[in-house]
Amino acid sequence: MAPVTNPAPPSAATPEMTVPPLLQAYSGRRPERTPVWFMRQAGRSLPEYRAAREGVAMLDACLRPELAAEITLQPVRRHGVDAAIFFSDIVVPLRLAGVDVEIVPGVGPVVGEPVRTRADVDRLVQHRPGDHAAITEAVRLTVAELGPATPLIGFAGAPFTLAAYLVEGRPSRDHLAARTMMHAEPEAWRHLMRWAAEVTGAFLRAQVLAGARAAQLFDSWAGSLSLADYAAHAAPYSARALHHVKDLGVPVVHFGTGTGELLVAMRDAGADVVGVDYRIPLDEANRRLGGTTPLQGNVDPALLAAPWDVLEAHVRGVVARGRTAPGHVVNLGHGVPPGTDPAVLTRVVELVHSL
Ligand code: CP3
Repeated sequence: MAPVTNPAPPSAATPEMTVPPLLQAYSGRRPERTPVWFMRQAGRSLPEYRAAREGVAMLDACLRPELAAEITLQPVRRHGVDAAIFFSDIVVPLRLAGVDVEIVPGVGPVVGEPVRTRADVDRLVQHRPGDHAAITEAVRLTVAELGPATPLIGFAGAPFTLAAYLVEGRPSRDHLAARTMMHAEPEAWRHLMRWAAEVTGAFLRAQVLAGARAAQLFDSWAGSLSLADYAAHAAPYSARALHHVKDLGVPVVHFGTGTGELLVAMRDAGADVVGVDYRIPLDEANRRLGGTTPLQGNVDPALLAAPWDVLEAHVRGVVARGRTAPGHVVNLGHGVPPGTDPAVLTRVVELVHSL
């Protein structure tokens, strides 16, 4: 009689090689090649981006499917990164919902009618999530070009970061008006945040349904909140936004800046992976998270303009500290600065892949 053998484990049916390194790392494994991509890799550091965008307003570019797909693919072709990030913006779902918002060059998102009072909130929440057809089309075109080897990451802004723009009306340093509203007008704040969670969650879901294989929630300005305020007035709405993709089974990354004190709360809002800015080292982030959460980060963008030997030593340090975590995807601690020499980014990719 033939000996009884255990059936092959599921991992043997899907050889590691067919799972892209990015997705292996996001699921807490150690792929043979350390994956790397850059926040804001699609953008002004590339001459081909500036050429493609010539004469087209930022948010209009986001809503032209062929153009958005082309810009998404540019950094993949040039740098050989392990993921594409969808070319769009966190305020696109606001525009699709009919909110008067522009991205002013050199300034950032500017809202026509800032939301300051309960009456402003009541007006805002009349806007329903818009039609995502242009997003769906752009994602489909992108995924078809990328093929199975390079995953597309979809993204959305977290409700707090969106509210920071809606309440202030424009970029601000300390988000004072938004932080006042959460305490002074708690009922208005709840309505605003529930609306933001629905609108941004629908945007994220549209990308994943159209073929994005991972999702990243950007709460760029969460670091201006205390842990107590974050937990009470921001995190529950990030959880609500992420609930929109929960059933789709893609890994979720949660990123913010200045969030060293918030890492655990950000993970517990429903993330599989936590993005870390450059302010704390990855081994410390891993310690704070109890050693169970894959990390993404955290090359200091300032060092992209430093001499190569300085940058190389820094990148090697980031990769070494990232090895303490259950999975690690190399990225920057924030976006690529517009003046970055693209050749430096390509060299960082080659270095990371060689380690
Ligand atoms: O390559 C990528 O990362 C994908 C595209 C992407 C953009 N914005 C394109 C963009 C992503 C992921 C974002 C996210 C985003 N947008 C965030 C979260 C990430 C972060 O940087 O903290 C935030 C806060 C925004 C809002 C926003 N949009 C700001 C603050 C700015 C910069 C203003 C400026 O001009 O300096 C934008 C504009 C923007 N978004 C550009 C790009 C390529 C520049 C627009 C241009 O080229 O004219």
